[in-house]
Amino acid sequence: MSLGMDEYGPSTYGDRIADVYDAWFHPPSDPGAAVDFLAGLAGSGPALELAIGTGRIALPLAERGVEIRGIDASQAMVAKLREKPGGADIPVTMGDFADVPVDGRFRLVFVVFNTLFALLTQDDQGRCLRNVAEHLTDDGVFVVEAFVPDIARFDRGQRVQTHRVEPGRVFLDVSMHDPVHQRVSVQLVVFEESGFRMFPVELRYVWPSELDLMAQLAGLRLRERWGDWSREPFTGEGKHISVYERAPA
Ligand SMILES: C[S@@+](CC[C@H](N)C(=O)[O-])C[C@H]1O[C@@H](n2cnc3c(N)ncnc32)[C@H](O)[C@@H]1O
Repeated sequence: MSLGMDEYGPSTYGDRIADVYDAWFHPPSDPGAAVDFLAGLAGSGPALELAIGTGRIALPLAERGVEIRGIDASQAMVAKLREKPGGADIPVTMGDFADVPVDGRFRLVFVVFNTLFALLTQDDQGRCLRNVAEHLTDDGVFVVEAFVPDIARFDRGQRVQTHRVEPGRVFLDVSMHDPVHQRVSVQLVVFEESGFRMFPVELRYVWPSELDLMAQLAGLRLRERWGDWSREPFTGEGKHISVYERAPA
């Protein structure tokens, strides 16, 4: 299905942002703590990343010797992964990660950087968790990195935030909040002297409590929850790293 400019589908975010994702939004940083955390759980693998994108996490995991594969909806994001050293060697299935459209079972399945919230309905998020559960080995785990919703940041349903200011560039987030559907519509707007670009992001947020319930309905249970990849305690604010395992039948 091809979508018009105003329609938003699973590949929209990645297709619009791929050419600048690494340079503008994820300048080289050390994903070491995340990679350590995930490598420790993956053991000898295999591991599966939902929404692998440009390989920010998957590539360093592969370098550690973890057998990894990924799913993504955006050809443009995966093309960026393929350009990087080792990026051609990681198997990637093109599709919607809610379907978990791969064969086999995994010791580790993970979705980082709030991307579970890219599934825009409770049904799709719940379906994703059920599909993940079916793809875990008996001792396998599912790891989610996501923000803890903070709806007080919205003033009458909207927020404009200056994200970054550089000598030749300004990064803004322009957001609208729909509390009924737990949805946020965002445009990341980047102004330069030569013009501006907009990167749309749609998301449906959930609190950890709803995630735990969806997990329970999918046959999973929470094993650990941390405040960051270094295993700082979870405080209820900021973000959480949640580790789910299969619940005994
Ligand atoms: C914020 S990026 C994260 C990429 C990578 N995991 C990282 O941490 O850098 C989100 C990725 O999710 C993909 N994506 C969003 N919705 C998707 C869906 N429903 N199915 C598959 N991929 C999706 C996008 O194409 C994009 O590559």
